[in-house]
Amino acid sequence: MRIDLVSLFPEFVAQCAGFGVVGRAQERGLLSIHGWNPRDYAEGNYRRVDDRPFGGGPGMVMLIDPLRAAIQAARAADPTPTQVVYLSPQGERLTQAKVRELAGRERLILLCGRYEGIDERLIAAEVDEELSIGDYVLSGGELAAAVVIDAVARLQEGALNDAESAAQDSFDEDGLLDCPHYTRPVEHELGSVPAVLQSGNHAEIARWRRMQALGRTWQRRPDLIDEAGLSKADRKLLDAFRAGPGADPAKST
Ligand code: ADE
Repeated sequence: MRIDLVSLFPEFVAQCAGFGVVGRAQERGLLSIHGWNPRDYAEGNYRRVDDRPFGGGPGMVMLIDPLRAAIQAARAADPTPTQVVYLSPQGERLTQAKVRELAGRERLILLCGRYEGIDERLIAAEVDEELSIGDYVLSGGELAAAVVIDAVARLQEGALNDAESAAQDSFDEDGLLDCPHYTRPVEHELGSVPAVLQSGNHAEIARWRRMQALGRTWQRRPDLIDEAGLSKADRKLLDAFRAGPGADPAKST
């Protein structure tokens, strides 16, 4: 997958993307990231990329032309057609379902704004979709772009060492939160590892994990339970969680 990043700070995102799974995905040739700085396409001695908003008010608005030239340069750098995604608090909220959709594309241009935003005419002409990573305001789209890149990179086939771990994540196909995880030692002053996980009984372990995933989602994100459309078996497991010590994973056996 190819991601082009249009940003005043492309190095910032490149740094974030240099570590861990995303760094490895790049090394393995599963993902390439290319930065385009609108300042390189700005005119005049000051290479201006922003100006005051018409109608008054605080802050600055990013100019059309440097951004447009940077987007066009990014488009022209590869023949694969691409969509332009603008990171902004006004966008559709990013979900794991959306991440899966983005991860399946061959190419993506991520457009990062700074200041109060971008001239609306550029958005109307060049942007295919707007994405928000949450209901809060960042000082620019770069961190949001880094979030998108990370989430999309780890879904590229071969990016994760253990192919299982992406399938079992929170928000996997059914949109539930993840179950709790434990490692050695079995006994610790902070508590013991639930006995079922040491039993070697794979069916029981799977049942316990499913129950914990359902229970946690019910406790922490009841909105997701409503959306999940639980099967009869899941409803029974959730009832068992709500009735028993499963409500506290550290105490369940
Ligand atoms: N830019 C500023 N705030 C943002 C947000 N919440 N999501 C995406 N891009 C942003």
